[in-house]
Amino acid sequence: MKLRTKLVIVFLAVMILPMIFMTVAVNTIGTGEANEIQQLYMILVCITTGLLIYWIYRSVSVPLTKLQKAARNIKEGNLDFEIRQESDDEIGQLCQDFEEMRLRLKANAEEKVQFDRENKELISNISHDLKTPITAIKGYVEGIMDGVADTPEKMDRYIKTIYNKANEMDLLINELTLYSKIDTNRIPYNFATISAKEYFEDCAEDLHMELEAKGVSFSYRNAMEEDSKVIVDPEQLRRVINNIVSNSLKYMDKPKGKITMEVKDVGDFVQIELGDNGKGIASKDLPYIFDRFYRTDASRNSSKGGSGIGLSIVKKIVEEHGGNIWATSEEGAGTTMYFVIRKYQEVPIDE
Ligand SMILES: Nc1ncnc2c1ncn2[C@@H]1O[C@H](COP(=O)(O)OP(=O)(O)O)[C@@H](O)[C@H]1O
Ligand SMILES: [Mg+2]
Repeated sequence: MKLRTKLVIVFLAVMILPMIFMTVAVNTIGTGEANEIQQLYMILVCITTGLLIYWIYRSVSVPLTKLQKAARNIKEGNLDFEIRQESDDEIGQLCQDFEEMRLRLKANAEEKVQFDRENKELISNISHDLKTPITAIKGYVEGIMDGVADTPEKMDRYIKTIYNKANEMDLLINELTLYSKIDTNRIPYNFATISAKEYFEDCAEDLHMELEAKGVSFSYRNAMEEDSKVIVDPEQLRRVINNIVSNSLKYMDKPKGKITMEVKDVGDFVQIELGDNGKGIASKDLPYIFDRFYRTDASRNSSKGGSGIGLSIVKKIVEEHGGNIWATSEEGAGTTMYFVIRKYQEVPIDE
């Protein structure tokens, strides 16, 4: 019951109840006993008013005390309690709003804790990944300074290693910069509506040349209709494809490498499948490969450099395109990456 309704009831009750009593009393006793009737009337007015004020007071003070306690809890940073809505009046509604505010604050606090933890992890991973090549560079430079590289061949090898390690660091820093830009939405996307068939045809042509030069066979199929379009940032989507293919090359363990690309029409989406016959990913690792810094144990222990950021960038870009990415893999046999991006739907104009 609304507070206003309660107050109206109180007002009417205080006015009407004693009046009814008066009428009944006058009718039964007669007007002769006017004094007693007046006294009784006063007593009745007092009792009715008292009871009704108590009723109103209870319905306001109990929830107010609860709210006061809740506000104190929130002030002290304790968000693990519950405010129950016990009535459906304005105060009950206020309790409900308070509870929603508590839940929102709690979710925010949890998000912040998670964010802080991820950031700490990020910093520790970055320092670890930068430290490894730096230690190597220092070691080789010291070797040169101490005269360990005493033949031209040795010197050449040392310098090449230093160069490779410096490149590794450069790559890592570039990936990190890109990741942080993407993560804080500082990359301006330049979306354009383009033909799906043409765009992927161009990508495939470039890939074909690049892979052929590396002795990897490439097969390509595009089942898109001539007129179907997608809204994409062509440059960023190229980054996605290049990243996936560079993984396929990096984790290729067969002498005859094979990479496939297939573009399919799946209803409202265009699905791109990029497959390889590389070493594959264990099913225990598969759910995590898109997490930032995740590398399978095998990759961490191998000599192949990498930061584990590549696929998290890929995922972020695909999601910014309103799409989704996933992978299937079989250890020893190969991996296929799938991603979908929404097709551009022309809105029909009614005539
Ligand atoms: N095509 C692939 N074949 C085998 N393993 C892969 C493939 N793509 C990704 N992976 C695994 O997923 C991990 C994450 O990939 P990515 O984010 O690109 O990091 P990085 O390549 O720097 O290690 C890799 O370390 C690797 O273990
Ligand atoms: Mg990679």
